[in-house]
Amino acid sequence: MTSWRVSSSAALPKWTREEFDSFNELKESNMAGRERNQTDMDKGIVIPDDWPGYPLDLFTSPEHYCEDLECVYIPHGVIMDRTERLARNIMDDLGDHDIVVLCVLKGGYQFCADLVDCIKVLCRHSNKTLPMRVDFIRLKSYLNDQSTEDLHIEGAENLSVLSGKNVLIVEAIVDTGKTMKTLLDHVEAFSPKMIKVAGLLVKRVPSGTGYLPDYVGFEIPNRFVVGYALDYNEYFRDLNHICVISDRGKQKYKI
Ligand code: HPA
Ligand code: MG
Repeated sequence: MTSWRVSSSAALPKWTREEFDSFNELKESNMAGRERNQTDMDKGIVIPDDWPGYPLDLFTSPEHYCEDLECVYIPHGVIMDRTERLARNIMDDLGDHDIVVLCVLKGGYQFCADLVDCIKVLCRHSNKTLPMRVDFIRLKSYLNDQSTEDLHIEGAENLSVLSGKNVLIVEAIVDTGKTMKTLLDHVEAFSPKMIKVAGLLVKRVPSGTGYLPDYVGFEIPNRFVVGYALDYNEYFRDLNHICVISDRGKQKYKI
């Protein structure tokens, strides 16, 4: 098995031995070695249950949320780097096809915009091209940090544009997978030629259906995250990093 070479833990003087070991374990589980099986790769970057995130002070975030967050879970730069790679995978698979990107609002707007931007850059710098139309659909099923049974789909009336097309659904977060299954059934009814799904985050939830998007950014523990357009009752979309909300934040913005 390919392994990363790190000369010695002394090269990282600010880390305790435990932190260093846990970093190495995380690295092993995320390793891009050719021997890794496809299932591991399919989950994207796997964030383990005991990942504490980064202290807020190591990054910048809006002053108005300073008491409302527990930690930076995935920094904005890491999200962008991972998105760039997903764009490349999508280009490798779909390049030279026409696609309709179906952005799932509201949470998916930032990921979709960045993913489309990355694909555009790749198109400019390669001899493949990927003509894209972008459409929007809105789903709503969360109140506070709890999923509710009733899923509202808005903008579903005019999905007839998807008929016979290659569709790329772009969603910020998949948790149980039930919402995505409902959406897929809905989109399939319009007889597209092909459907692929890109999900930035997949949450490990006990009640999960096991559904995995075709392109996954990160697999995360079962924690409520905000930022990068993900909200808690419409707050925190104006935060660049993906963060864990504090108890105080939950109280403050509860309805
Ligand atoms: N954050 C924001 N929206 C969500 C989440 C989450 O963790 N899970 C499902 N929708
Ligand atoms: Mg929401």
